[in-house]
Amino acid sequence: MPPTRRSAPVKSGWPVITGLLLLGFLPVLGGVVRLNELSAGAAVGQPFALSVASVAHIVSMSVFCLVGAFQFSPALRMRHGWHQNAGRVLIPVGFVAAIASVPLGVFFTGTPDERAAAIVRVVFAAAMIVFLVRAVVAIQRRAFATHGAEMTRAYAIAVSGGTQALVAIVWTIVGGELDPASETGVVAVGFVINSLVAEVIVRRRARRG
Ligand code: HEM
Repeated sequence: MPPTRRSAPVKSGWPVITGLLLLGFLPVLGGVVRLNELSAGAAVGQPFALSVASVAHIVSMSVFCLVGAFQFSPALRMRHGWHQNAGRVLIPVGFVAAIASVPLGVFFTGTPDERAAAIVRVVFAAAMIVFLVRAVVAIQRRAFATHGAEMTRAYAIAVSGGTQALVAIVWTIVGGELDPASETGVVAVGFVINSLVAEVIVRRRARRG
């Protein structure tokens, strides 16, 4: 009898999930600190709508980064229902996270020299919204590979806060304390690194078919 061919076991993806959770950890921690400040009255004098946007942005971006990490597990994608059900929650959450950051950046209440970093964030929030829209259109057309590519790009932007923290550490070691101009550089470099990594992953997946 000819030997039967065994299919390769589906990967759990735990190393990737763990890396993504670690990357999301620092910005989420920063978000928790800010939520604490807001509940202690840090936003007094600021328009109420901005405080609402701030809370919506922090909570939804944190959920998107943490729960979204599990969407990259091949094993969970094979398990019927998990990926689809989580996705139905995560896509609206991602939209709220990105859209809420626009008023925060446009009506920025920080110091004028921090405005440039806020503008960079708004530009990448706009890109995240575009990628999410394209991911939704792709899934409606059952174009699964395109959907995966667009979600990878959106997620890479969302977890850029972790990369920015790492870049800030390196920048501080090499160039000393950060000023607002170098902080803007750190924010931009973090977004660019993550977007490039996402592009490499997307292209590698496309080559493998
Ligand atoms: C887990 C991820 C993230 C967390 C926890 C987080 C948290 C925060 C916090 C605490 C603020 C300050 C809000 C305030 O002043 O009340 C903020 C501001 C802002 N965030 Fe995020 N954020 C995350 C990711 C992102 C991403 C990926 C983008 C853009 C693509 C973004 C765009 C913005 C913008 C435009 C502002 C307002 C301008 C500024 O403070 O520089 N955030 N975020």
